[in-house]
Amino acid sequence: MHEDIEEILVTQEQIKAKVKELGHQITQDYQGKNLLLLGILKGAIPFIADLSRAIDMLHEIDYMAVSSYGNATQSSGVVRILKDLEGPIDQKHVLIVEDIVDSGLTLHYMLDLLRQRHPLSLRVCTLLYKERERAKPLELAYIGFRIPNLFVVGYGLDYAQRYRNLPYVGVLKPEVYQNNQKPERQHKSPAESS
Ligand code: XMP
Ligand code: MG
Repeated sequence: MHEDIEEILVTQEQIKAKVKELGHQITQDYQGKNLLLLGILKGAIPFIADLSRAIDMLHEIDYMAVSSYGNATQSSGVVRILKDLEGPIDQKHVLIVEDIVDSGLTLHYMLDLLRQRHPLSLRVCTLLYKERERAKPLELAYIGFRIPNLFVVGYGLDYAQRYRNLPYVGVLKPEVYQNNQKPERQHKSPAESS
């Protein structure tokens, strides 16, 4: 375990087993369909890389990069597109692949935006789902792990762009924040851009 990590919430082995299970389920659900995995940069990179290889049918992969407007303490739900999809999706079954769903506002915005492009279907697969209250309910087709409402890093998730490479999901030691600004939103780091 890395010295900055206080506690591991989801181990490498648990992630591996879950990704295999999700890949199997997605393979069954999308059999014969034109599937596009849509990864949200940067946090979803390790997850989509592993998930894609656990899906036993041909499919496409594309990415979007988004950044949330507003301050560090609250997700405004208004999202700026930093990188868009390469092409139209009206002939595709789109499965958004996310690292984590927190307030869910980012995802609501993405879903509204993508719906306007008329995909054949539009669903979400998230590795992590924070147990917390949400202003608007979200429909999530696939959830890897439900975790407590804590700021987590690893397996794609960062604090100030670091720790993405850790093979597990964990909570940072409080002293790691001491010389930096502590994430004001329990769940969002100051330099976070998804
Ligand atoms: P909302 O609140 O709109 O935010 O669902 C979703 C995005 O915020 C980031 N996020 C985190 N990043 N550790 C991180 O490293 C966390 O605990 C965390 N919680 C939210 C993430 O990019 C997610 O897509
Ligand atoms: Mg993200």
